[in-house]
Amino acid sequence: AGDFTLTGRSAAEVVVLGGGIAGLTTAYELGKAGYACTVLEARERTGGRNFTVRGGDTTVDLYGNRQTARFSEGQYMNAGPARIAQWMITLDYCRELGVPVEVFTNVNADAYLFNQSAGMTRPMRYRTAKADMFGYVSELLAKATDSGALDKALTTDDRDRLVEFLKDYGDLGDSLDYTGSSRRGYSVYPGAAGTPGVEYGDLPTASEIFATGVGRYFAFEFEFDQAMLMFQPVGGMDRIPHALTQAVGAHKIRTGCAVSGITDRAGGVTVAYTQGGRARTIDADYCVAAMPPNLLAKVPHNLGTGVQSALEAITPSSAGKIGLEYSSRWWETDHHIYGGITETDLDVTHIWHPSHGFHGERGVIIGYYNTGAAADSYAALSPAAREKRAVEAGVRIYGDAYRTELASSFSHHWRQFPYQEAAWHTTPDGPDAPRYKPLNEPTGHVYFAGDWLSHLDAWQHGAFASARKAVTALHQRVLNSR
Ligand code: PHE
Repeated sequence: AGDFTLTGRSAAEVVVLGGGIAGLTTAYELGKAGYACTVLEARERTGGRNFTVRGGDTTVDLYGNRQTARFSEGQYMNAGPARIAQWMITLDYCRELGVPVEVFTNVNADAYLFNQSAGMTRPMRYRTAKADMFGYVSELLAKATDSGALDKALTTDDRDRLVEFLKDYGDLGDSLDYTGSSRRGYSVYPGAAGTPGVEYGDLPTASEIFATGVGRYFAFEFEFDQAMLMFQPVGGMDRIPHALTQAVGAHKIRTGCAVSGITDRAGGVTVAYTQGGRARTIDADYCVAAMPPNLLAKVPHNLGTGVQSALEAITPSSAGKIGLEYSSRWWETDHHIYGGITETDLDVTHIWHPSHGFHGERGVIIGYYNTGAAADSYAALSPAAREKRAVEAGVRIYGDAYRTELASSFSHHWRQFPYQEAAWHTTPDGPDAPRYKPLNEPTGHVYFAGDWLSHLDAWQHGAFASARKAVTALHQRVLNSR
């Protein structure tokens, strides 16, 4: 660690552009070290894409759609980030800032898979799909091994061990056939003596289960950033920017201030911005630009063509969500699904069950979390039409309760949202490609930070990591210059 403070030295002044996670973290960490920071934030709230929608919150998108959330007391949706892996710096900040966390259920054996284009008329439980896919794949591989098809690749011991593994993995009998398994689940659950339960019938053939395409969803939970356990702050993801804002000091954050110019000059930097329609400027020793790159690219500056072309190379992506508040938790009572995600090939793509408030009176389901063209097609609709289309999709999977129990909805699309215009970004060739050097190293007195300058874009972890890198570099320079 070492001494990170400027004890006994005059504090440098830093203007931070953007009050999202990267900007707030920059001000928080520099503040610890004694710097005088001012954060300019275009919106009336901090957090950027870390946005938790609660009853009464109002948004206006770039198409002019105005929505006010009607969620009831205690209900919310995380419109932006919503899950945190155990290894992410995000959790360390939660610990340090005293933000309590709870498990976020990213994968649930009892959630559904539904591929309409494959001809599925009913959803399949994850557990059933896994039992059948792993069962048949194990059968095929075990039989191929047993019949000598792999003799060139395997020793006799290898073959025995592989078959042993596959019998266990696929729940195969001694004949190496997959003939179904209790792993598939029950239509009548086992109970007291005399009630052995009824296993799901209609065992598909290998060919039939392959044709459903359900296997394509299994690898998601193998990913480094998506594997269970995952976490969320208790009470909404925005507990993080709230805590950061408090730690920075709200008086150091100027909201309603949209940046309109960045001028690097001898000995410092001048940032122009508008506040309530009035043009203002602020001078500082340094600047950390932690705004979205697609918007920074539109801000006039004198930082050179290398900065400008690097910013323009980074392209914005789309994503949207709709929160559906229900007046009962029918997915728990009727479907026995407590949290987790239903995966579909419909344009709603992912349907999220709430990972908190179990057995409560009400709950918010994320009726779509989609990206790219699917997100843009919903964004182009009115909020009422988005709800209608999302509910029609859900009814196909869950039945009529998906419509009849609905209390209200709120939809959010980041590509069409002012001061963001992106859910996340694509940085071609990765953030370490030479063309991004003018962003990764300071240009004059200006530093850049954001998840888009990290190897974990579209994660708060990337924003924290990038901000910490900028802070470390800036502080090193200040120490060396004194
Ligand atoms: N972090 C976002 C999410 O978990 C976006 C993302 C999805 C990033 C998948 C990487 C992989 O939904």
